[in-house]
Amino acid sequence: MSATSEFGSARLLHVALIGAGRMGSAMARGWLGDLGAAGIARLSVVEPHPGEDVVAAADGGLIALNDPAEIADIVVLAVKPQGFSDAVDALKAWVGPQTLVVSIMAGVTIARIAMVLGSSKVARAMPNTPGAIGMGATGYTLSDACGDDEAIATARLLEPLGLVVGPLKEVQMDAVTAVSGSGPAYVFLLVEALGAAGRSAGLDEATAIALARETVIGAGALLSDFAESPAELRKQVTSPGGTTAAALGVLMGEGGMPDLMTRAVDAAVKRGAELAQEAEKKG
Ligand SMILES: NC(=O)c1ccc[n+]([C@@H]2O[C@H](COP(=O)([O-])OP(=O)(O)OC[C@H]3O[C@@H](n4cnc5c(N)ncnc54)[C@H](OP(=O)(O)O)[C@@H]3O)[C@@H](O)[C@H]2O)c1
Repeated sequence: MSATSEFGSARLLHVALIGAGRMGSAMARGWLGDLGAAGIARLSVVEPHPGEDVVAAADGGLIALNDPAEIADIVVLAVKPQGFSDAVDALKAWVGPQTLVVSIMAGVTIARIAMVLGSSKVARAMPNTPGAIGMGATGYTLSDACGDDEAIATARLLEPLGLVVGPLKEVQMDAVTAVSGSGPAYVFLLVEALGAAGRSAGLDEATAIALARETVIGAGALLSDFAESPAELRKQVTSPGGTTAAALGVLMGEGGMPDLMTRAVDAAVKRGAELAQEAEKKG
């Protein structure tokens, strides 16, 4: 797209957010801090059961809640994938031929969104649950009709959820899903497994889980605060011949954590591709 296009100009845009549940309302909260910085002139929100913060923003005149539909510059789709088909008729009234559709629906392809809504400019993003507290990691991809300006507009809208990475190839979205989309579950499992191991090593359940939980939170904070790579941080706490080295010998040995994680991510990638195919068939 040229620098003089709608999105590339300094013009602030009319954004319609469809679905303000967990993820949608997290995005709206972020935008409301500074609508101009998010590139938003007007924010319309469509949500059957809005939360307190969305209602308060509507009462304060910051957003238009459940107003009649009109063509928007950007439509952000934050309904559940299984709710997409039911929402299509209502959605079409917000989408014109030039509208950029930004979807965070898991597994719904650009081709399907473009075909159903009749817009060639589509961005598809995969956030994760920490996005609800602004600490997520989101990867996104763009349709061929999008350019740099749509990439900038999309990233700006997703930033309230945390780190934004893209534009990626659409074929990479299953890998994004497998790494960061499903990733929080792997970390929760790590806490469970470390707690269970602590119990079998002689701690009571509450103590073991408290120690495991705080260890993961603290290690995450160290990762966040320091520029060193995870491998560097690991080496810093591993004295040769010490207790950590003994444990890592098991975790990093054959069939250990690197092998296990590769197999787990491969399984998630495969399942993501299967689910997308099933969704395409259902149409
Ligand atoms: N949460 C995650 O970790 C995560 C991760 C990656 C991707 N995503 C994607 O993010 C999207 C939203 O997830 P979420 O966790 O925020 O779900 P959610 O909390 O259920 O939010 C969806 C919201 O959309 C509303 N809604 C349903 N149909 C609508 C319609 N026709 N028009 C307007 N609003 C409608 C729902 O209202 P009702 O509840 O009244 O139906 C609900 O408040 C999903 O597509 C999901 O795939 C979520």
